[in-house]
Amino acid sequence: MEKKEKLYEGKAKILYATGDPDMVIQYFKDDATAFNAKKKGTVEDKGIMNNAISSKIFEFLQANGVPTHLVKRLSDREMLVKKVEIVKVEVIIRNRAAGSLCRNYGVEEGRTLHHPILEFCYKEDKYNDPLMNDAHITALGIATEKELDKIKAITFKVNDLLKSFFLALNIELIDFKIEFGRYKGDIVLADEISPDTCRLWEVGTGVRLDKDRFRHDLGNIKEGYQEVLKRVTEK
Ligand code: TMP
Repeated sequence: MEKKEKLYEGKAKILYATGDPDMVIQYFKDDATAFNAKKKGTVEDKGIMNNAISSKIFEFLQANGVPTHLVKRLSDREMLVKKVEIVKVEVIIRNRAAGSLCRNYGVEEGRTLHHPILEFCYKEDKYNDPLMNDAHITALGIATEKELDKIKAITFKVNDLLKSFFLALNIELIDFKIEFGRYKGDIVLADEISPDTCRLWEVGTGVRLDKDRFRHDLGNIKEGYQEVLKRVTEK
């Protein structure tokens, strides 16, 4: 697939046009940011690892009936994806307390929740991705009620599938963030799913295998991603 002009550059990925107006190339960088890019760095080969991990996960979800933007992995750092219009909402599921839930509500990290929490954040860095509810989303025309219903149903399904996917690798899925896009009138899972966008704790030890190593300077950042990649590809 021919790689044409750059369409968009985000914090961790770049999108390039292709010869097909319905397809784009998603290129994974090594750049890492946290806390709305207040903290910046790079993690050697992160782009390669996240491309491989995300490809595997999207293939697994697709095979289990989740519509996704993935067409195929093209190279170390590139995947071919459907050209979607991103819904400007970050959709988060929390299975156990961590991160901003602890900061915002004074909850201790690791606390068990009575049930998973579904959260929406407005995908807009300049406003610090504020939390929003269903009414904000529909009233501001960010998504229709019908789209939102689909997004919620897919998100809970992704949670169920990914919890068991990771548990089989002796990893607990603590929380994750996903994004959706519109493609030919439908809602599909887009963006990526990787240790950048999930909290992944080893079962038993609680060892962090995700971007929290970068966010909180826990050390051995690359090794965390490598460990997830190893388990995901050996599956
Ligand atoms: P949080 O606890 O910082 O709100 O993050 C919840 C989950 O969402 C966690 O798995 C990390 C992921 N996340 C992203 O992928 N991108 C973001 O910009 C943020 C804030 C969180």
